[in-house]
Amino acid sequence: MWGRLLPLLLSFFTAIAVPGPSLRRPSRELDATPRMTIPYEELSGTRHFRGQAQNYSTLLLEEASARLLVGARGALFSLSARDIGDGAHKEIHWEASPEMQSKCHQKGKNNQTECFNHVRFLQRLNATHLYACGTHAFQPLCAAIDAETFTLPTSFEEGKEKCPYDPARGFTGLIIDGGLYTATRYEFRSIPDIRRSRHPHSLRTEEAPMHWLNDAEFVFSVLVRESKASAGGDDDKVYYFFTERAAEEGAGSFPQSRNSHRVARVARVCKGDLGGKKILQKKWTSFLKARLICHIPQYETLRGVCSLDADGPARTHFYAAFTLTTQWKTLEASAICRYDLAEVQAVFAGPYMEYQDGARRWGRYEGGVPEPRPGSCITDSLRSRGYNSSQDLPSLVLDFVKLHPLMARPVVPTRGRPLLLKRNVRYTHLTGTPVTTPAGPTYDLLFLGTADGWIHKAVVLGSGMHIIEEMQVFREPQSVENLVVSPMQHSLYVGATSGVIQLPLSSCSRYRSCYDCILARDPYCGWNPSTHACIATTTQANRSQGRRTTLIQDVERGNRGCESSRGTGPPPPLKTRSVLRGDDVLLPCDQPSNLARALWLLNGSMGLSDGQDGYRVGVDGLLVTDTQPEHSGNYGCYAEENGLRILLAAYSLTSNNGVPAGPCSFAEELSRILEKRKHTQLVEQLDESSV
Ligand SMILES: *[C@@H]1O[C@H](CO)[C@@H](O)[C@H](O)[C@H]1NC(C)=O
Ligand SMILES: *[C@@H]1O[C@H](CO)[C@@H](O)[C@H](O)[C@H]1NC(C)=O
Ligand SMILES: *[C@@H]1O[C@H](CO)[C@@H](O)[C@H](O)[C@H]1NC(C)=O
Ligand SMILES: *[C@@H]1O[C@H](CO)[C@@H](O)[C@H](O)[C@H]1NC(C)=O
Ligand SMILES: *[C@@H]1O[C@H](CO)[C@@H](O)[C@H](O)[C@H]1NC(C)=O
Ligand SMILES: *[C@@H]1O[C@H](CO)[C@@H](O)[C@H](O)[C@H]1NC(C)=O
Repeated sequence: MWGRLLPLLLSFFTAIAVPGPSLRRPSRELDATPRMTIPYEELSGTRHFRGQAQNYSTLLLEEASARLLVGARGALFSLSARDIGDGAHKEIHWEASPEMQSKCHQKGKNNQTECFNHVRFLQRLNATHLYACGTHAFQPLCAAIDAETFTLPTSFEEGKEKCPYDPARGFTGLIIDGGLYTATRYEFRSIPDIRRSRHPHSLRTEEAPMHWLNDAEFVFSVLVRESKASAGGDDDKVYYFFTERAAEEGAGSFPQSRNSHRVARVARVCKGDLGGKKILQKKWTSFLKARLICHIPQYETLRGVCSLDADGPARTHFYAAFTLTTQWKTLEASAICRYDLAEVQAVFAGPYMEYQDGARRWGRYEGGVPEPRPGSCITDSLRSRGYNSSQDLPSLVLDFVKLHPLMARPVVPTRGRPLLLKRNVRYTHLTGTPVTTPAGPTYDLLFLGTADGWIHKAVVLGSGMHIIEEMQVFREPQSVENLVVSPMQHSLYVGATSGVIQLPLSSCSRYRSCYDCILARDPYCGWNPSTHACIATTTQANRSQGRRTTLIQDVERGNRGCESSRGTGPPPPLKTRSVLRGDDVLLPCDQPSNLARALWLLNGSMGLSDGQDGYRVGVDGLLVTDTQPEHSGNYGCYAEENGLRILLAAYSLTSNNGVPAGPCSFAEELSRILEKRKHTQLVEQLDESSV
């Protein structure tokens, strides 16, 4: 398996390190150029929220009440999910006292960043209350908050079992049936742990004789209701995603990284775990972890994970964003992988690893495995054998669990390879939603946040990804800290240092023609041939009129359906240009898509190439230099994309010896040409990926 992945990585990094069109080819099939680039100034339909606070990194969406709850530094906000910027928000001020802050500073912490109350945990506790925890100047506190009045209670709860001290630490937490399941590095010493608290059976991971977790940085956790689909009375499970220091053999196949390097992991515990009776008392009896690999493990750091389960737990799958770094640190790249729950389950049902004292290394455990299988949840078959809870498990099993937290086989991505490898991008977070198209098929739509404040919107297609657009959502570059999708509000919420942004999930009206609408491959957008508009499929759900027009969509291939449609609109008008012999003229033509290749035809057949006969083909048009009578004719500017050729502009050019229309307009034209010329770049340089 390493053999299969290694050439991919090497080709990928070779490609970056040694630029050149021919060398890039091997990785190109996994690299996707965002089709559209939408800078901050051109974003439409966005709403903003920004209070007095900063670090808006904790988001909780409550669809039923249409509220977006936000945890920030020193404050909590309750915003309207319909319009976060409507000005009618509620706010809780919750800062650590000046005394707390100076104490924190005395303990050696930074009073500019660390000695505040960063709200890290915010979840629904019960019908009436929310539950929030903050770092509180390195003395974490938690509080049950009345959701209706949105006020802090008079008494707080100790937070050191539930919340990190350090605001920059990885943290993930869930409330399940009233119990808190939190994973982070706790206490002043930053001890990694997965804990259950506020529960009759509080549990944590084992530290002796071996640590189940090593310097873990947690990224994500999710409850998978595996009991629902199970015929055998299986338990619900909580899955954790994190990176940690690898101790096992094989972790570093490159010798220099043997001891220090970190790997991505997935771990799981059973919801019904009550801990052991004598052995593993108040410890998880169901903790298992496995290596998670995406592209090439030596270089990847897990940044974000999301879980999608359109058709119930059996079809649950995860998407994970990794950043890739090399020893040289000069290259930045990200990878996206998909994992099926079934694969994760298979790895947890497979062989274990064991620390072999004699050899002082980790190796695959080859001995006998006690019964019931260590680390499994209590199922019907265990109950029928008298194991009613984890406390009934035999000592032999629990002793085995203590020493074998790690599985031998790593979890590999769906199809054994990443969906996307992206150069020069650092993804910091991702979320996704399944989108069911009117024709039936469902596509996973992902939103990826970058370290410099952009969002990539991408649709997962078979073995790869198509990035529909990249949007600059923050004017000031800043890391995207959190992302939440609301299908009900058709909105994406983005949390970052300076505030929260609400974006529409689709902006179909951006696509003006049937072809443009199809080429976008946005599962939310379809072409309505009767109104000649690209519209959101969600608005089409209105069947009250009974006569529902079929929208044209082709998410799968992105080029079919418009042939018969007269909805493609009239051809662009023929513009005439008259130039003095020997002058230059620019025929403007903007390519709306980054994936399109500009093609210029003269008199309908002759393709013009850059540098030939005085022609310069640029991203914004065709420059004809030193115009001669032979240059006269009809020019068509086409976009070639995904097997389609679309006419964007048409010109009739005449070069003459006579006096031009007027000196004034000539001067204007000339200055326009000179201005444009500065921006005109060679297509080949910018767009080699589409060749
Ligand atoms: C942080 O501590 C320094 C040194 O004690 C002090 O001068 C400064 O005012 C403090 N800043 C804040 C924001 O408390
Ligand atoms: C919800 O939890 C809070 C805090 O523990 C408690 O005061 C309140 O009574 C609970 N509400 C319900 C409906 O159980
Ligand atoms: C909070 O925001 C500031 C910038 O306003 C940033 O420097 C800091 O790293 C952020 N802290 C966390 C914990 O995200
Ligand atoms: C498990 O539960 C059954 C039925 O409730 C009971 O008869 C049995 O003794 C229990 N077993 C243990 C080990 O507690
Ligand atoms: C749906 O149809 C009803 C009745 O014709 C109309 O009032 C409503 O505005 C429509 N909604 C949308 C979203 O088109
Ligand atoms: C294109 O057509 C124009 C007028 O129809 C003609 O004058 C010109 O020579 C043609 N150019 C070429 C290169 O065929």
